[in-house]
Amino acid sequence: MANLGTSLCCVVLAAVVVAYAQRRSQLVARNQYERMGSDVTMKCGFLEDDASVSWKVNGTDVRAQHRLDGPRLVLTHVDLGHNGLYSCFQNPLGERRDTIILRIGTIPREPVVSCRSNTYPKGFYCSWHLLHPTNIPTEFQVEVQHNMRVLDVQKDHVHKNKIHVLFPEVFSSFPYRVNVTATNALGSASYAISFEESSIVKPDPPERVVATPIPSNVRRLEVSWTSPSSWPEVDSFPLKYFLRYRPLIKDQWQHVELSESTSHTITDAIAGKEYIIQVAAKDTEIGTWSDWSVAVHATPWMDQPKQITSTTDTSDPLLETKPSPQPASAEPRYGVTPVGGAYIPLPFSTPLLVGAVLLLSMW
Ligand SMILES: *[C@@H]1O[C@H](CO)[C@@H](O)[C@H](O)[C@H]1NC(C)=O
Ligand SMILES: *[C@@H]1O[C@H](CO)[C@@H](O)[C@H](O)[C@H]1NC(C)=O
Repeated sequence: MANLGTSLCCVVLAAVVVAYAQRRSQLVARNQYERMGSDVTMKCGFLEDDASVSWKVNGTDVRAQHRLDGPRLVLTHVDLGHNGLYSCFQNPLGERRDTIILRIGTIPREPVVSCRSNTYPKGFYCSWHLLHPTNIPTEFQVEVQHNMRVLDVQKDHVHKNKIHVLFPEVFSSFPYRVNVTATNALGSASYAISFEESSIVKPDPPERVVATPIPSNVRRLEVSWTSPSSWPEVDSFPLKYFLRYRPLIKDQWQHVELSESTSHTITDAIAGKEYIIQVAAKDTEIGTWSDWSVAVHATPWMDQPKQITSTTDTSDPLLETKPSPQPASAEPRYGVTPVGGAYIPLPFSTPLLVGAVLLLSMW
């Protein structure tokens, strides 16, 4: 008897589990995307037109203005406040018949697209964004064409809205065409731009800018820097530089343009004043100037440092040179690099670290 009871119990339990699983698969919430400002109709499963149902949103009664039309719930003039998990229950037993995740959004507008080459002549990148949020998931598709050919694009590893393209050839007079299409459940919009190779070239700023006082010289500062490490062939595609400097106490910059040289001596500094110095780079022939480098500060050498009131709290003015920040991991490595060649294999040999160590050892 007990055995029969147990097996009966098991059979009933199994049936309940199966029925539950079936119902669950029927009642898995589905997404319904609707446009902001529109009137929205949600239909309760596959119920007949004369079915009577009640609706809940997030488990409570629907408070927003609405209309019931048989198995349908009609919301008027929806906005983000109507987002939610809607469930309908068939009367009179109150069985749940459908679950809808309502998501209000907008059709994407044309994306804003820009392209730039900071790795000329290797390649360029394009990035884009939407001026107005769509409030629902939106995907982007990019097509790059050059001389009737569709070029391969590579997704950026970090930025979602960015791709990289290799130049198929250098000194090409054919324009590039980049078309970005934004698509979501409500619609899509495209924007295409066209440009020549030479117009998008803009290097990254120079790196490792250092300004040093020159002993016994109260009006000079020695400034040096390196070409941006992203610029791949500085010998074949040289850069020119633009230096600007001013004493902290003045607003007016002084400028010097330099062809290819990566150092400059400022000779007209005001004695005893702390200077702020920045450098920019540009391909010698095409493109536009880079952004300014990280600003460095330096004060010319002083005879009697104690009598000068410094604008910073460093007591020794000779120590006021602040080189641009370096990768934090590179500095300790310097100590273990053998002097005079032969490197110990690095345990964490990321390209950045290797690059930094190479630069440091050349220094
Ligand atoms: C339902 O809950 C979601 C998430 O908490 C909330 O954003 C939404 O405004 C709620 N919707 C309604 C109609 O209360
Ligand atoms: C951009 O691509 C989209 C999607 O492929 C296409 O419908 C549209 O016509 C293209 N626009 C231009 C200007 O080529």
